[in-house]
Amino acid sequence: MALERTLILIKPDAVQRRLAGTILSRFENKGLKIVGLKLMQVTKELSAEHYAEHVEKPFYPLLEEFITSGPVIAIAAEGPEAISVVRSMMGSTNGRESAPGTIRGDFGVSRQMNLVHGSDGPEAAAREIPIYFKPEELVDYESSLSAWVC
Ligand code: PPS
Repeated sequence: MALERTLILIKPDAVQRRLAGTILSRFENKGLKIVGLKLMQVTKELSAEHYAEHVEKPFYPLLEEFITSGPVIAIAAEGPEAISVVRSMMGSTNGRESAPGTIRGDFGVSRQMNLVHGSDGPEAAAREIPIYFKPEELVDYESSLSAWVC
């Protein structure tokens, strides 16, 4: 069972809708450990770096407009197979098609305003975490709870 780190973004729609705490609670309740957390504004440059594989796609202008439209909360989370755990908790991209019980399935009906981002694999996590966090902003600490959830 691999201990992984993943990047989660609580997107501008979720911050504006005051759902940030609710969404963060889901990840905490699942047993994921927060090792980095900050409220920040995504710039156009940061958006292009994060979504580099999508910049040429037709939907990118809308994605850029959305992700830069207000603050996001960036979270680096750690846990056993954290990458796939977060992805399954998020649900599929389009809230209308996302299963009830997932974050997008419970709170969204949009493909664009879909509340949350999670790294889609180990390579993405390794690339995305340093985009949002300097090394000194990631905190290593012991958590006795880990013994009860892993
Ligand atoms: S793809 O083309 O299948 O790889 O795209 P997908 O994985 O579904 O989505 C990648 C990210 O782009 C966002 N997206 C959109 N934003 C705005 N408008 C439209 N039409 C749109 N389609 C996809 C989607 O929310 C994904 O964002 P992240 O933050 O990675 O979840």
